[in-house]
Amino acid sequence: MRKFLMSTAAVAALFAAPMPMAQAEESVEVLHWWTSGGEAAALDVLKKNLEGQGVTWKDMPVAGGGGEAAMTALRARVTAGDPPTAVQALGFDITDWANQGVVGDLGEVADKEGWDKVVPAALQNFAKHDGKWIAAPVNVHSTNWVWISKKALDAAGGKAPETWDELVAVLDKMQANGITPLGHGGQAWQDATIFDAVVLSLGTDFYKSSMIDLDPAALGGDKMVEAFDRMAKLKTYVDKDFSGRDWNLASAMVIEGKAGMQMMGDWAKGEFLKAGQKPGTDFVCIRFPGTQGAVTFNSDMFMMFKVGDDKKKAQLQMAADIEDPAFQSSFNVVKGSVPARTDVPDTAFDDCGKKGIKDLAEASSGGKLFGSMAHGYAAPAAVKNALYDVVTRHFNGELDSKAAAKALAEAVAAAKG
Ligand code: GAL
Repeated sequence: MRKFLMSTAAVAALFAAPMPMAQAEESVEVLHWWTSGGEAAALDVLKKNLEGQGVTWKDMPVAGGGGEAAMTALRARVTAGDPPTAVQALGFDITDWANQGVVGDLGEVADKEGWDKVVPAALQNFAKHDGKWIAAPVNVHSTNWVWISKKALDAAGGKAPETWDELVAVLDKMQANGITPLGHGGQAWQDATIFDAVVLSLGTDFYKSSMIDLDPAALGGDKMVEAFDRMAKLKTYVDKDFSGRDWNLASAMVIEGKAGMQMMGDWAKGEFLKAGQKPGTDFVCIRFPGTQGAVTFNSDMFMMFKVGDDKKKAQLQMAADIEDPAFQSSFNVVKGSVPARTDVPDTAFDDCGKKGIKDLAEASSGGKLFGSMAHGYAAPAAVKNALYDVVTRHFNGELDSKAAAKALAEAVAAAKG
């Protein structure tokens, strides 16, 4: 009966108990371009995590694979003096924002949780600026993958291609079998994603000298002409409606068996999984033929902007959640990427994920890990955009391979300034 004797104050306190969550009104506004089925499913893991901790998620999605439109939207918000709390961003874009002095400082959380020891150096180069943590890396993706319909591969002889010639032979068989051999969306960033892999397939030294060192001789030389010839060959395998198609619709063509394969980063796996498909049974993942052992990576990071004290706590909470090892596993299993920390077990990952983790470690220790040009980890946006322009003009038949190599060397030189 004692409970009936509670004082008014005690009763008030009881009702006040759940207040910390509501009272705090902690919230994060998050700008991102994860709008496809697989991407949204992965983002939901983060959103639910935060909501479970009483942090409200204000979603600011800006559709467009590769994030160009998102970066334009971000510029408008920063110019208006009202940046979001956290922004999905890639590589050199992060460095650019940091140079403008508008990003926050995650040191408090990063030091406490020892990020220095577990986040690979290749990512720290971008997630830290002037020795300060400014972004929380969510994942590591890589661009030199091919996603093949198992059914279409079986009908084309069943053997996954390991060399360029074998790749062409399989594509030819798929064509003869009456399907679109290559599911592709004609958008500059998608053309450039394939270009990453094609350049890498002509040698890691060549990728490094042309895409990382931006050596004019490599950019405009005979090997680059060969790279463009390979692009032109691949163009013969896309369907007539490829222009402008979103990448996830190209994945859907492979999922539905209308196309044989897609050359795309491992975010494509998120689409296959979302559609209920299984690696090895419904689809096959291989490294782009000729690039085995090497990796062109990109890492999605949540770059944190300077915010008022009222937002800081939630911002740091979000950063801590992102680097949590359990989150790194559950998120990346859905996204198709691999963890951004080296100490996350691969147990929860499927065979493609396990391969991704192993490939990344081997490429890294073997000096064969390179930033993706198409996804902002090889060069700043001006150079990347110059390359997009030439690669796309060539892919659309406006330039022949020789003219494209020459134009590439010139455009990159101009963009470097
Ligand atoms: C990449 C990004 C990936 C993926 C892809 C397509 O730039 O790193 O996470 O979502 O774009 O939207």
